[in-house]
Amino acid sequence: MTDDHHGWPYDHLFARPVQESMGGAEYGAWRAIANADAAALSFGFPFPDSFPRDELLAATEAVLEEEGAKALQYGGSESADRLVEWTTDHARERGMDATEDEILLTNGGSHGLDLVCRAFLDPGDRIVVEGPTFMGALRQFDKFDVAVESIPLDDDGLDVDALEGRLEALEDEDEDPPKLLYTIPNFQNPTGVTLTRDRRERLLDLAAEHDFMIVEDDAYGDLRYDGEPVAPLRALDEERPEGGRVIHLGTFSKLIAPGVRAGWAVADETVRDQLRRLNSGGSNTTFMRSVLGKYVDDGTLDATIPELCQAYEQRRDRMLDALEEHMPPAAEWSEPDGGFFVWLELPEQIDADDILDDAIDEGATYLPGRWFYGDDRGANCMRLSYSYEELDEMEHGIEGLSRAIREAI
Ligand SMILES: Cc1ncc(COP(=O)(O)O)c(C=O)c1O
Repeated sequence: MTDDHHGWPYDHLFARPVQESMGGAEYGAWRAIANADAAALSFGFPFPDSFPRDELLAATEAVLEEEGAKALQYGGSESADRLVEWTTDHARERGMDATEDEILLTNGGSHGLDLVCRAFLDPGDRIVVEGPTFMGALRQFDKFDVAVESIPLDDDGLDVDALEGRLEALEDEDEDPPKLLYTIPNFQNPTGVTLTRDRRERLLDLAAEHDFMIVEDDAYGDLRYDGEPVAPLRALDEERPEGGRVIHLGTFSKLIAPGVRAGWAVADETVRDQLRRLNSGGSNTTFMRSVLGKYVDDGTLDATIPELCQAYEQRRDRMLDALEEHMPPAAEWSEPDGGFFVWLELPEQIDADDILDDAIDEGATYLPGRWFYGDDRGANCMRLSYSYEELDEMEHGIEGLSRAIREAI
């Protein structure tokens, strides 16, 4: 099979999952979004002033001066070990009974997810995701030639009744249960909703009953600025006599900077060992780990998290106020207690892909809802991100987007 879209004569030699996912329609739209001269409500990026440049510079200098020979060598350094300690302490503060044997440093949440997929998925396996879900995760699953099914969510997170119905139907049809369920329980990307405690317990019941693993992608869990934290699935799972079904993924991308490419996984030691084995040779640099270890060791990161929460809270409020002020009555949106995203739902007949160009002309970019499903759902929805754009620009963007939406309606 050759693909004229690319015009490269050897496409047929790519692996099947690669061939099947090449040249999707969103690539063109993605370029339009990235190049637009408009308020960037599309990017789920941290705002640039959140990056601790001075502190990272100081940490880098200290590492080079104090332990450069080790930090630049194969192997490790004391500061790199400190990163594991910080991560373990952090997991414990979040209610997990973690030991250092249950921690794996990764090159970020996406890398953690890739390792989990490689450890658990065979071609043809089934996995379950929230509908909608993080498009980066969907792209990852594409690589593994697996069947991805999405279960809807509402204001309380994943609809566990719908999940139970689907699991029972699979059982009745003598079909295999999913091997993995991927969830973003806190301030979900793209909807901003949080899975309630009751539903977390139900999800763990279902995992035990139907024998699957849960991947808990907690990219935003530390960025709560309203309400009470809900215990991580991994923590609730540990209280069960036959726990061990949850792999918890964390990342420094939103707490420090995406460019440091660092994160962590918390999993039972057996799982952690397999993830580490798959990762051999591909790990984040000892040097960067040393720098981050130095940085977290003096308590700066712990002190910075409340400041980040304040900044994102202000951003969220500005976006919600702007939506309230400018959007037509037919639009509805989520009100997140943390994280980066608002999910906007428009009347059924409006297609968010179709109005993207008009919105860009009016001064705003966003990501169309369809991109967060594996299929054609979500057409009348869009993800708006308040994490990146300057506040005034963001407000102007919402105003322009509202004009484009009113026009379409
Ligand atoms: C839910 C979720 N998981 C993972 C990631 C990727 O994180 P990382 O930069 O750590 O790979 C993102 C980034 O947008 C995300 O939204």
